[in-house]
Amino acid sequence: MAGNITLTMIKPDAVKAGNIGNILQMINNAGFKIVAMKYTQLSEAKAGEFYEVHKERPFYGELVGFMSSGPIVAAVLQKDNAVEDFRKLIGATNPAEAAEGTIRKKYATSIGENAVHGSDSDENALIEANFHFAATEMHA
Ligand code: RTP
Ligand code: MG
Repeated sequence: MAGNITLTMIKPDAVKAGNIGNILQMINNAGFKIVAMKYTQLSEAKAGEFYEVHKERPFYGELVGFMSSGPIVAAVLQKDNAVEDFRKLIGATNPAEAAEGTIRKKYATSIGENAVHGSDSDENALIEANFHFAATEMHA
């Protein structure tokens, strides 16, 4: 699967706003196949582990608090060039800078509460897929 998967999370803000269905439809329409999916809630410890790369950043505490504040949808998506194409579909981290038609432009409200996560490299996509899913839960 390496090289053609990415890991997404529909973040607590988008879940609370009732946008799970809208976001999954955009993902589907963009040609991604769902190979794993779950509705779950991260503990503070697990959210901290997921975003550990940012632990020295000033927004880390806020990020961990937000990501553990409510349920999320985690999913592994498959497509040629999945990581890059999904980053294009979600748009810039800050929704004010996100292109028209992107998920963050439509559904994110701020740089901190920005509706979706997308892996930033093939290597991290695999690490993040294995963070959320057992091998028996992924169906390529
Ligand atoms: P993500 O990892 O969630 O897909 O987001 P990203 O790659 O676009 O952005 P990244 O730099 O990895 O930051 C991770 C998440 O941290 C929050 N953040 N807040 N307040 C701030 O200045 C700030 N900067 C980043 C966002 O929720 C961002 O998605
Ligand atoms: Mg990131």
